[in-house]
Amino acid sequence: MARVIAITNQKGGVGKTTTAVNLGASLAASEQRTLIIDCDPQGNTTSALGFPKDPARRTLYQALMLDEPIDRIILDAQVDGLDIIPSDKNLVGAAVELVNLENREYRLKALVSGIQARYNYILIDCPPSLDLLTLNALAASDSVLVPIQCEYLALEGVSELLDTLMRLRRTINPSLAIEGILLTMYDDRTTLSKQVAADLRSFFGAQVFETVIPRNVRLAEAPSHGMPVMFYDIHSKGAESYIQLAKEVIANAQKRVGQGIERADSGAGADSGSSASAAAAGAGSVGSASTSDDSGSDGSGSSTI
Ligand SMILES: Nc1ncnc2c1ncn2[C@@H]1O[C@H](COP(=O)(O)OP(=O)(O)OP(=O)(O)O)[C@@H](O)[C@H]1O
Ligand SMILES: [Mg+2]
Repeated sequence: MARVIAITNQKGGVGKTTTAVNLGASLAASEQRTLIIDCDPQGNTTSALGFPKDPARRTLYQALMLDEPIDRIILDAQVDGLDIIPSDKNLVGAAVELVNLENREYRLKALVSGIQARYNYILIDCPPSLDLLTLNALAASDSVLVPIQCEYLALEGVSELLDTLMRLRRTINPSLAIEGILLTMYDDRTTLSKQVAADLRSFFGAQVFETVIPRNVRLAEAPSHGMPVMFYDIHSKGAESYIQLAKEVIANAQKRVGQGIERADSGAGADSGSSASAAAAGAGSVGSASTSDDSGSDGSGSSTI
């Protein structure tokens, strides 16, 4: 069962879409079957993966609001092991039309549960707002990955965001965990970047990914060529950093599986020899088991909020 990760931050332009596209491609390159759901009416993930605007294309809107069969919506992202559910500006309508529907926060969750068995990872790229689309994404997810731009007042922003997520946890998704806080657009020539990164690490500790995404022009250029950065310039710092992030996400999933097995088998042979894909495939079920004990930080890089 796929681990479902919402990539979210209400603040605009912090690297959500860049992370969805490049983490998705890097997971797929690590033999993890991955689906990216573009849940943002801006459709930036859709175009960054090489699908130019096309009014005839079916999108998440048709799946969410008109119950069109999902197999008619999912597209092959032309990267081995990577699929996408595209979006376009029609999705703005969904945010409004959902208001009057029953189960309005849970429609994406229903859709995701029907395809979760096909993938190892499902990444949901959220819009920069806390509207019904984002609530649907958070209700459908096992965890949140929060990209933070290394800039002034970043710490304050994350604290507010985590407060909001904690409130949502009480209402729409009690088992929502933190996959990790990701430092993006890091510039090691500036004292500010270094200071912000140090502050975030001292405050949020192991919840911050060890991988840091540098400011890298290749990451900004790749979307206009309709491809993830690893196919645009594999040797760039941007490509390297997202490949590293995928390794960290997979390693965290393996740790969770190890801990789950230890819990079930009283510590017998938890971690030896399991392949990355087997571990990731098992992560969903173990993840849901581990949330039931509600133990807060588990030291594996993914903790309950
Ligand atoms: N590490 C990076 N280095 C250089 N440019 C980057 C980096 N990450 C993102 N960018 C650029 O910054 C801009 C904003 O990034 P992105 O679209 O990923 O943010 P977002 O959080 O998805 O924005 P929105 O909130 O509008 O959806 C884009 O032009 C992107 O190409
Ligand atoms: Mg975006």
